[in-house]
Amino acid sequence: MDKLEIHGGIPLTGEIRIAGAKNSALPIMASTLLTKDTVKVSNLPHLYDITTMLELLGCMGVESIVGEKLGVEICSEPIKHFNAPYELVKTMRASILVLGPMLAHYGQAQVALPGGCAIGSRPVNLHLTALKKMGADIVVENGYIEAKINGRLKGAHIFMDLVTVTGTENVMMAASLADGVTIIENAAREPEVVDLARCLRAMGAEIKGEGSDTITINGVKRLHGCEYSVMPDRIETGTYLIAVAATRGKIKVKDTRPSILEAVLSKLEEAGAQIEIGEDWISLDMKGKRPQAVSLTTAPYPAFPTDMQAQFTALNAVAEGSGTITETVFENRFMHVHEMIRMGADMKVEGNTVMVNGKQSLKGAPVMATDLRASASLIIAGLVAESQTTVDRIYHIDRGYECIEEKLQLLGAKIKRLPS
Ligand code: UD1
Repeated sequence: MDKLEIHGGIPLTGEIRIAGAKNSALPIMASTLLTKDTVKVSNLPHLYDITTMLELLGCMGVESIVGEKLGVEICSEPIKHFNAPYELVKTMRASILVLGPMLAHYGQAQVALPGGCAIGSRPVNLHLTALKKMGADIVVENGYIEAKINGRLKGAHIFMDLVTVTGTENVMMAASLADGVTIIENAAREPEVVDLARCLRAMGAEIKGEGSDTITINGVKRLHGCEYSVMPDRIETGTYLIAVAATRGKIKVKDTRPSILEAVLSKLEEAGAQIEIGEDWISLDMKGKRPQAVSLTTAPYPAFPTDMQAQFTALNAVAEGSGTITETVFENRFMHVHEMIRMGADMKVEGNTVMVNGKQSLKGAPVMATDLRASASLIIAGLVAESQTTVDRIYHIDRGYECIEEKLQLLGAKIKRLPS
């Protein structure tokens, strides 16, 4: 397994470009199952999860042509199987996103039931309850979700008990081809849900209210092909901003969208960063100062994102003062804390909160990545630590961060990949 070797203590400085959003690209790729026409998706990030989604579509018979400019043309017309196998679902939980479109368009889907993962149990009960309400016949047997429908799904009034991002996306896609109107209440308001709605609309879907907690979808009989460019990745953007703030540096991130990062930018300002924004760029300057510790609580958008919690924990580890970080979305998202303690961080987990007393610096150590965003936080910890840190199991990071060591090198970091 590859590792990353980091020599920390260098303030990061420079400019980088942000890739397309993974969490937007994945549902958009799944939505191509809703039409037999070709859908051209561009601004895809270069990530393992994107390759896994292409592999998943490919194993069902869907044809994809990967173009030069981070684009792919996907045509589901030759589809032969309606089965998302466990081998792929276990490497990427977002595979569940093929369930709604396959069921709505082809009347059947067998998708391996995703198991728990490092950050929590992550059930998909709300996806299934909603699709059942739309008339689907669903059984879970032998580790598989077996779903079918005679004719078309029926529009329904659905109240989501919890805000679920992929749950909202699955139902929105299924409802696009259902007979009648579907109303999703307590829908996720994440920008990636909005991006998917825009893509579906470009395919001919009738959707209103995306970005609010009530989404209304008037099902149509047929969707058609389209061209769609994926929005920028707000989590990648935030991760680089935090890495630079923690190392007391200066950065300009380009090809991003500041308007979807308000909660994160406001915490960075509280930490002492000077921030300027334009239409598609953000600059951050710490003026060489040590960051101030911040306190925050994660919650669904537009509140502070759980996918940025671990990175802020790393920033607090070397900040002035103390901060508390409370995680309300996933039940076990503090695995990175124990690794940071091995690097000399002063942190304590109590229930769903971690209390951090900032230290002047951390000490390099061998650490192990446990999930995608935890890996990013350990890299940040390595970048601020004295001496050498090696981050093991970095396959997690390659799932969600495009060319991370190259981008960090551009900012002056001493980081290299040690192939296994
Ligand atoms: C998505 C994101 C992930 C992010 C998360 C929360 C993608 C591909 N992934 O994951 O990066 O961290 O949103 O912003 O977009 N839940 C249930 N039953 C369900 C569905 C969810 O109990 O049927 C619970 C989950 O266990 C979790 C909470 O609801 O505690 C939110 O999860 P959800 O929004 O569904 O996360 P994902 O869509 O899997």
